[in-house]
Amino acid sequence: MAKWIKITETENIPKMGSRVVHYGDLEIAIFKTRDDSIFVINNICPHKQGKLSEGLVHESVVTCPMHNWDVDLKTGGVLGNDSGCTNVYESKIEDNMIFINI
Ligand code: FES
Repeated sequence: MAKWIKITETENIPKMGSRVVHYGDLEIAIFKTRDDSIFVINNICPHKQGKLSEGLVHESVVTCPMHNWDVDLKTGGVLGNDSGCTNVYESKIEDNMIFINI
């Protein structure tokens, strides 16, 4: 059953950047891309636990700051020759408020 958690207003997420929220043991990164799309993924890189929220956002991809792996913000999957996947959370926006489905 869906459990929608209210996070913050979209304006609180920097364009081409992110904010981190903690929910229990989960560390969740909320990204905003250049076109103001919002993506919500696990903040932990599938390679060696780099903080994806500290990475560089380009298109709908974040490049991990540790070893430059590219992670697709839509799928959580690693791009290129590397492999792995981090969790993606369903999100919705209502009246500029971001909700995520835990
Ligand atoms: S920890 Fe992210 S690329 Fe190595």
